[in-house]
Amino acid sequence: MAKRKRTPLAPPEPTILPQKKNYRQRAHANPFSDHALQYPPSPAAVDWSVHYPAFAASGKTPEFADVGCGFGGLLISLAPLFPDTLMLGMEIRVQVSQYVQDRIAALRVTSQAEPTIPSPFQNVSIVRANGMKFLPNYFAKHSLSALFFLFPDPHFKSRKHKARIISPTLLAEYAYVLKPGGIVYTITDVKDLHEWMKAHLTAFPLFEPVDEETLRAEGKGPIVDAVYTSTEEGKKVERNGGDKWLACFRRVDAH
Ligand SMILES: C[S@@+](CC[C@H](N)C(=O)[O-])C[C@H]1O[C@@H](n2cnc3c(N)ncnc32)[C@H](O)[C@@H]1O
Repeated sequence: MAKRKRTPLAPPEPTILPQKKNYRQRAHANPFSDHALQYPPSPAAVDWSVHYPAFAASGKTPEFADVGCGFGGLLISLAPLFPDTLMLGMEIRVQVSQYVQDRIAALRVTSQAEPTIPSPFQNVSIVRANGMKFLPNYFAKHSLSALFFLFPDPHFKSRKHKARIISPTLLAEYAYVLKPGGIVYTITDVKDLHEWMKAHLTAFPLFEPVDEETLRAEGKGPIVDAVYTSTEEGKKVERNGGDKWLACFRRVDAH
């Protein structure tokens, strides 16, 4: 038998991370104008193996959700810290969600190119979705242990307050998808929005305030640190010398 000529192994392709400048998008999204969005009829209809192929056999579903994840800084920073926890970002803007999708794909390839390093980004994914409307379409009752609202759009004018992502009508949905004991993390540089989110969450019977020290004592310090520093918006606030207001709430057990 003729000896087959061995083709030399090609060196791994350099992974090029996507550039934000190629994903231009309007600064603000209108959460009431999302007619072209497709969404699953129920969480059972979501094929999570498409999002997390490495976890396909595990039957796991996302436990952390970052609503309005923007360019994905929180997800990218938490993914290696909790490699067994599935995390999903939700972002309404087309180009921004595409950027995050491409960023995750590139990071997965990078980590696969080096076999000695376990691939740390298999547990993170993104959907283009309106988190104010379709959360229960993606997440089953009591399935999440963390829900993030980081630097949400402030919608300053009173007549726009109904577009705020924390509002009395939406809190019931957030309580529905969170497990008892699960945490809602909010942070903003807008004091008025901080007071608004705090007031509404405090008034809602299924949430109780939990302070930063308690969360750190429970081992959630790395999450709190990421909430403060990992997102693109948080970094911008830092560069501009702005304040950051954190407010966290625990989903109480209603029995
Ligand atoms: C000010 S940015 C903050 C992004 C990110 N959390 C950060 O800290 O860098 C708010 C983001 O929420 C997104 N957004 C607004 N309303 C949304 C909704 N209803 N569902 C999903 N994303 C939404 C916006 O498109 C925007 O990317």
